[in-house]
Amino acid sequence: MIFGAKLAWRNSNKCIGRLFWDSLHGIDRRNITDERDVFQALLEHIDFATNGGKIKPTITIFSDAVRIWNHQLIRYAGYEVEGEVIGDSTSIEFTKQCIALGWTPSYGQFDVLPLVIQIGERRPKMFDLPKSSILEVSLSHPDYDWFEELQLKWYAVPMISDMSMEIGDTLFKAAPFNGWYMGTEIGARNLADEHRYNCLPIIAEKMGLNVKRKSSLWQDAALVTLNQAVLYSYKKAGVSIVDHHTAVEQFELFEKKEQQAGRKITGNWMWLVPPMSPATTSVYYRPFNNEKKSPNYAYQPAPILLLPSLP
Ligand code: ARG
Repeated sequence: MIFGAKLAWRNSNKCIGRLFWDSLHGIDRRNITDERDVFQALLEHIDFATNGGKIKPTITIFSDAVRIWNHQLIRYAGYEVEGEVIGDSTSIEFTKQCIALGWTPSYGQFDVLPLVIQIGERRPKMFDLPKSSILEVSLSHPDYDWFEELQLKWYAVPMISDMSMEIGDTLFKAAPFNGWYMGTEIGARNLADEHRYNCLPIIAEKMGLNVKRKSSLWQDAALVTLNQAVLYSYKKAGVSIVDHHTAVEQFELFEKKEQQAGRKITGNWMWLVPPMSPATTSVYYRPFNNEKKSPNYAYQPAPILLLPSLP
């Protein structure tokens, strides 16, 4: 099963980080039947994978009855207040569910959501993560002193918890896994997208760029500054991260190794090409075969429950 989890990573067409597939650390927790024990196991996953910043790619596999409602084990809440979004817009629906389950929101930009764990058809149980388990990185920039005044930060470890893992005939619905971040995930998407944290306008303004004219390329310049800050800050904090150029080089090595092993690699161009300076990387120029191999990870329908009507 653990080897299957490694192969599932190797076959993940969207993932640029697959060179390290064989180093995945697998934890078998199929014996757990209680929500609190799942919570404990998730804390152990977080602590082991975080490893003080030297992140270890890890997967924890649970039994059939377990569902984790969170998209990632650590993720910021999102709220819509009077037409304005506070926090992470991708979390708005899930945050509402947490509130319906009795979670107290604090309406901040970076509130870590509770873990929501369900066993069978039981009402899901909620658990707050202890501060000691949540490693975060405050962002600063090597050249701009004003950058840290923006009080931007992100969490250290991306741990996807809502995908299923399919190995042959077996489907695992709760198998949270993590690697480490590629800088652009944070700097060119999470903090940059207009519908996410939308930080480019304030950064461009602080840089003294002309934000009135698109053709000043203020968005592009701000994007570079933000991504430098992300890479610099994670490095400074001793938290594993990879820049997109190095990640593409590592992917080329993965391809070479796969070829030597007599396997044909598959990939999804849309996802492999980094979201900034795409044409500076080799993957931009090449076609990829997006055929889906097994084992693999997959999206699955979100667990649906009408919480307000529950006892
Ligand atoms: N893109 C997602 C995020 O920004 C994380 C996806 C997994 N990424 C990874 N490097 N393993 O939170």
